[in-house]
Amino acid sequence: MKPRVLILDDDPGTLASLSRAFALEGYEALTAGSAARAFERLAEEPVDAILSDVVMPGMDGLEFLARVKERVPEVPVILMSGQATVETAVKATRLGALDFVEKPVGLDRLLLTLRNVLRLDRLERENRSLSRHVQDEITLVGGSAAMGTLRALIERAAHSDAPILILGENGTGKELVARALHERSPRRGEAFVPMNCAAVPAELVESELFGHEKGSFSGAIAQRRGLFEQADGGTLFLDEIGDMPTPLQAKLLRVLQDGRFTRVGGTGEVRADVRLLSATNREIDLLVSEGRFREDLLYRINTVTVRVPALRERREDVSELTAHFAEAAARRNRWKPRRFSTEALDVLRQQPWRGNVRELRNIVERALILSGSDPVAAADVRGALPAAPASRGPAVPADGLLRDLVDGFEREVIRERLKALGGHVTNVAKSLGLERSHLYKKCKQLGIDIREEA
Ligand SMILES: Nc1ncnc2c1ncn2[C@@H]1O[C@H](COP(=O)(O)OP(=O)(O)OP(=O)(O)O)[C@@H](O)[C@H]1O
Ligand SMILES: [Mg+2]
Repeated sequence: MKPRVLILDDDPGTLASLSRAFALEGYEALTAGSAARAFERLAEEPVDAILSDVVMPGMDGLEFLARVKERVPEVPVILMSGQATVETAVKATRLGALDFVEKPVGLDRLLLTLRNVLRLDRLERENRSLSRHVQDEITLVGGSAAMGTLRALIERAAHSDAPILILGENGTGKELVARALHERSPRRGEAFVPMNCAAVPAELVESELFGHEKGSFSGAIAQRRGLFEQADGGTLFLDEIGDMPTPLQAKLLRVLQDGRFTRVGGTGEVRADVRLLSATNREIDLLVSEGRFREDLLYRINTVTVRVPALRERREDVSELTAHFAEAAARRNRWKPRRFSTEALDVLRQQPWRGNVRELRNIVERALILSGSDPVAAADVRGALPAAPASRGPAVPADGLLRDLVDGFEREVIRERLKALGGHVTNVAKSLGLERSHLYKKCKQLGIDIREEA
């Protein structure tokens, strides 16, 4: 869309030449010969910037500027004057003019000023919308009793340095809880450093956490500070801690005991003041009893345990969450905001929600994309749900090579699973009973682009 600029000047010649020049530069120029006319035009259509003369019969440019700032404070204003005194310029700036140009106006200078003003304005708007998005991403939504209990626990637990273990199924909001804990803790102004223990290859976890010295292993081309150091003064969030390789568990335990460590390949001791939060969707007690997670480490990391309830245990939150995700998606994509009908919400409430809040979020967004109706109807929601598992097995094909048929079936299964679990590779691997690395290999071999399927 062309940026729209309103030009106000009592001299018809200036209006004509400026609007012609602006049009040539790709702007849509509106003109007004008096302040009164300018206000009429502003009432008719929104503009991106205003350019105004100062000395005019009737209302002058300064008074016009003051009124504009009352009515549409967000629209940037540039003033131009032939009799510019320092005093007028200062006054104009105080009133909120973004720039002041002298008449006769050098066209190049004016166009440059306008471009800068519009760019600044766009940046400010982007900034506001970005912080909105960040807010959208970190608010814990849900008025259910279970969420109330969770919030109260977060409030209480945040104000200490005690390590906290966050437990909950896939997509219940564990990471969100970790961020909420950090934001409400005395460390809120400091770093929040997350690491997903399942996503980092086992042999790199140590250097990722504790850093390394230059040349300590092939590929260590420079010294690197680990996440512990990066989180100094703040919070370190070890996500999927149940997947931490066993040798590393012993090292982590030692660091937690004496607060000191050495970088990989280094000798000097490093100290970092870190509050540790961890999370897992695994049955951590089971991992301990199977000898896959150290019991002494578990005691170290769970001074407080926070359980995030599954969505099916708090179905009363479904409608609020749906509204929240629909609004956030509309803001992010600049869609017109739409609601979900009562029947659509009923359908959503009844789902099993194995992928919990993340799955709900995906389905809400998919329904909004697939359907144009307002409100979104029950049928639209059904269309957006993952395909129900077939009651009978698939029909057995009469021909084709076994290898191709098997590949095709595997491809379909993995794609569906990726979709259902929001592209969360660890969980997909788990639900299929595969190692992560095996799943990656399979996807590569079958030509599945993991990011695309999510
Ligand atoms: N109570 C909530 N209010 C708003 N959004 C939520 C809530 N719970 C979860 N979400 C959203 O659902 C998605 C999944 O949340 P999050 O990543 O925190 O879950 P998780 O438990 O860490 O998942 P995983 O087990 O897969 O790591 C995110 O987009 C998050 O913003
Ligand atoms: Mg998580």
